[in-house]
Amino acid sequence: MEMEMLILSVLVLFVSLYLFRMLNKNASRNEAGHHHQLQPPPGSSGWPIIGEGLSFTMTAKRGVPEKFIEKRRIKYSSSDSKGSNSSCKVFTTSLLRESVAVLCTAAGNKFLFSNENKLVHSWWPYTIYTIFPGLKKPDTHKDSIRLRKVMSPFFSPNCLQKHVGIMDGFTKRHMDEFWSDEKQVKVLALAKMHTFTLACKIFLNVEDPEVIAKLEEPIQHISAGFISTLPINLPGTPFNRAIRASKKVTKDLEEMVERRRIDLDRYRQSTATAADLDENNQDMMSKLLMDTYSNGRQMKETDISDIADKLKGLLIAGSDNVVTTICSMVIFLFQLPTVYDAVLKEQMEIADSKAEGELLNWGDIQKMKHTWNVACEVLRLEPPNPGTFREAMTDFVYEGYRIPKGMKLYWSVFSTHKNPEYFPDPEKFDPSRFEGEGPAPYSYVPFGGGPRMCPGREYARFTILVFMHNLVTRFRWEKIFPDEKMVMSPFLGPTRGLHVRLYPLPSTPSL
Ligand code: HEM
Repeated sequence: MEMEMLILSVLVLFVSLYLFRMLNKNASRNEAGHHHQLQPPPGSSGWPIIGEGLSFTMTAKRGVPEKFIEKRRIKYSSSDSKGSNSSCKVFTTSLLRESVAVLCTAAGNKFLFSNENKLVHSWWPYTIYTIFPGLKKPDTHKDSIRLRKVMSPFFSPNCLQKHVGIMDGFTKRHMDEFWSDEKQVKVLALAKMHTFTLACKIFLNVEDPEVIAKLEEPIQHISAGFISTLPINLPGTPFNRAIRASKKVTKDLEEMVERRRIDLDRYRQSTATAADLDENNQDMMSKLLMDTYSNGRQMKETDISDIADKLKGLLIAGSDNVVTTICSMVIFLFQLPTVYDAVLKEQMEIADSKAEGELLNWGDIQKMKHTWNVACEVLRLEPPNPGTFREAMTDFVYEGYRIPKGMKLYWSVFSTHKNPEYFPDPEKFDPSRFEGEGPAPYSYVPFGGGPRMCPGREYARFTILVFMHNLVTRFRWEKIFPDEKMVMSPFLGPTRGLHVRLYPLPSTPSL
């Protein structure tokens, strides 16, 4: 009897397993068929070749980039016969010769950020791949994970706090030299010079002005050629200049990395311990080299150019976005006296607590809460990086629409940052939005989110706060061109270089 029961149980188990598999197969077949029947998101492919690129660029140039998304969101929202409105969560457009699904809610941001390397992966336009051929490698996401693993300790508050004093000393010397005796200054040019010099010091340990100038000039060309209106690789075009400049910077950086590799090699053969090595070589170049060296691996020539490529990316990312934020902040503080007064009060309290010649430290950065809330509001209203692309790794369904494998997807800060649903009275400058719990999850995304979230955000916070501390505790300022504003062309920046007249404050901290 027992034997019969056992055989019966095994049979039932087999039959159940078979039925379960059949059901599953049918379900996936139905789902695949269902995927096929579904429509892609509503939208327009615009004009032949240029798609809707012109409209995208024009709204940005007019200083209202959010209108591109807002207009389409309204157009593709549907209302049923009962009058209830279903707001548009995704639409398609055509940009850079690609059909692109634009996700336009905080839930859309969450979806993209949390499906990195599951349903989507990072994708860059053709211009970026041509200027940075390293991004085209097939295992780019593995590379990005490795790079982030190496960078994250360097960019952690724990490590960055060691750099606060260096940053402050640098900023004070920069202001002494270029701001103090000048009645009028160009903020854009000076902030660029300052943040680039600082990035060279912190990432490469380079301070020689000649070496810095040799890197800075081509890097300006790279930035200018990023999103060229005419991405044609012919001599004389900005795109061509950017490609050549990128090769030159890589070559110069390769030479520096090679020299450092030899130094590190010598150092390793000396009596130094791993702890000494780590302690004494804290710049990013050494960190990347030491990671490549780890586990006794032999260095290859491609490793050197790989590291040079990564450093080039960091030098660009580490300077441009920070400069833009500083310029926007200078404009907002000039235009909003009450916001300026509150920032000045906070910064003066910190300055007054310091002894003569004492530099800022980690604790001081922590005290700059209100100033950082002001910077966050600046980044909400004028985000330097409006969004990035992803590519569908497989067919999937989003909000009932079919997203085929290979389709490009775009998340934009403007979907949420200027949307009253997430930020009531969105045009109002209100730093208190960042007090308490702050904005709803995934609605405030100036640094992106998920595994690809900007790794340099803490470095950016430190640089911006140290710079603003020195600026507001030394000067008041006035815009020379009252109507000057920040516009995207193609990157966010002041239309005329932001000339300001300086008025020194009575007591100023100095080295
Ligand atoms: C206010 C300043 C900055 C802003 C607003 C900003 C914003 C962003 C955004 C939106 C992304 C794309 C995230 C995504 O695709 O999901 C990004 C990526 C990145 N940022 Fe920043 N960034 C800033 C400063 C910096 C700094 C100072 C550095 C380096 C020192 C840096 C290094 C990078 C790198 C390496 C990536 C690529 C990460 C990856 O693809 O895995 N950024 N940043």
